Amino acid sequence: MDRIRIVGGNALNGIIPISGAKNAALPLMIASLLTDDTLTLENVPHLADVEQLIRILGNHGADISVNGRRERQSEGYSRTIHFTSRTIVDTTAPYELVSRMRASFWVIGPLLAREGRARVSLPGGCAIGTRPVDLFIEALTALGAKIEIDGGYVEATAPKGGLIGTHYTFPKVSVGATHVTMMAATLARGVTVIGNAAQEPEVQDLARCLNAMGAKISGAGTPTITIEGVSQLSGARHRVLPDRIETGTYAMAVAMTGGDVLLEGTDAALLETALEAIRRSGAEITSTESGIRVVRNGGDIKPVDVVTDPFPGFPTDLQAQFMGLMAKSSGVSHITETIFENRFMHVQELARLGAKISLSGQTAKIEGVERLRGAPVMATDLRASVSLVIAGLAAEGETLVSRVYHLDRGFERLEEKLTRCGAIVERVSE
Ligand code: EPZ
Repeated sequence: MDRIRIVGGNALNGIIPISGAKNAALPLMIASLLTDDTLTLENVPHLADVEQLIRILGNHGADISVNGRRERQSEGYSRTIHFTSRTIVDTTAPYELVSRMRASFWVIGPLLAREGRARVSLPGGCAIGTRPVDLFIEALTALGAKIEIDGGYVEATAPKGGLIGTHYTFPKVSVGATHVTMMAATLARGVTVIGNAAQEPEVQDLARCLNAMGAKISGAGTPTITIEGVSQLSGARHRVLPDRIETGTYAMAVAMTGGDVLLEGTDAALLETALEAIRRSGAEITSTESGIRVVRNGGDIKPVDVVTDPFPGFPTDLQAQFMGLMAKSSGVSHITETIFENRFMHVQELARLGAKISLSGQTAKIEGVERLRGAPVMATDLRASVSLVIAGLAAEGETLVSRVYHLDRGFERLEEKLTRCGAIVERVSE
């Protein structure tokens, strides 16, 4: 199994091209099941999760072709992928495929809307909490679906004539359940109003793409989304928005190691709250025509408290990385996780590098230390694993991160992007 070897201590200087967002690409790919026409997605990142979803969509009958081409954007990769599901050959998403990635459960929305039925295995994904599916079931039931859970599968059937528009307010904000309800409602009869919807940029991106396919969605990006059902959707061409979590991760890496890096092809508006927290820690962040410039030249890393929240709050997907940064701050900071109940597995691994962190319920207290020291550590989930990489960049000596398959789920060409900026990072095979 591969490991990542990091020799810490170098500042980061140069350009890092930001990839298309994994968490936008996945629901966009799933939306292709809503039409028998071709959906073309540009700027799709090359990641293990995307490859896994390609297999899942193929199982439902999607014909998928990939154009890999090098774009002249600091030679960043961008893939254009065409998805055509002329007919849905199978409305079952089996355990073997769905258990590896939670987002694959989301096929339930398009399959139900288009075919009137879906049988989807209960999902898997990163071990960061219990992650139930009750909100999906409630929302789809409100759209008229009959749902049963049998043998580890959610079996959903639409009424004769299809799903029916409804007013449904989520008791809790869920990104995935908002994606699924929005997709399912595009082909429902009548108008659907979703209350307490997730406002994440990825929800907005999905709505933009669905509208390009002929859907009538308004309000995405606010807590109330209105969807006027249409009888069918067509193909479209859509560019996946930049990855705000990758952006924030590299910004935190620079804030930690020092240096001067242009994060190319991204947009500060996607992560204002996180950028503000990084600024308060002492880094300078400015928007430029081609992206975001992050600079830290000497000076202490100041302690900053954060609380994770749904968008526009501080993203849970940047919590582990920010904890890495705070581990080297000049004081005491607190990080509170409100989205997932078990998203602190990086704490004990950061401690191996010398971080001083104690947990009390959902809040971590971080007493900054002057020096972190390299050590062997183990990746536990996607974002936790990258927090270990950036902490390793700022530690003295060698850090070896094992179980790097977690990283490959969500960070495109991580070693290459960091190496080009002066870091010593390499993949080693055992
Ligand atoms: C999405 O997951 C992201 N995944 C996650 O990123 C991200 O951490 C999360 O949103 C929150 O921002 C993708 O976009 C592919 P939720 P999702 O439903 O949709 C609870 C990463 O590292 N809940 O918004 O699964 C749930 O347990 C991943 O890229 C229910 O209670 O998250 C959690 O506490 C990890 N019942 C909260 O809602 C439900 O039916 C928010 O989860 C559904 C969710």
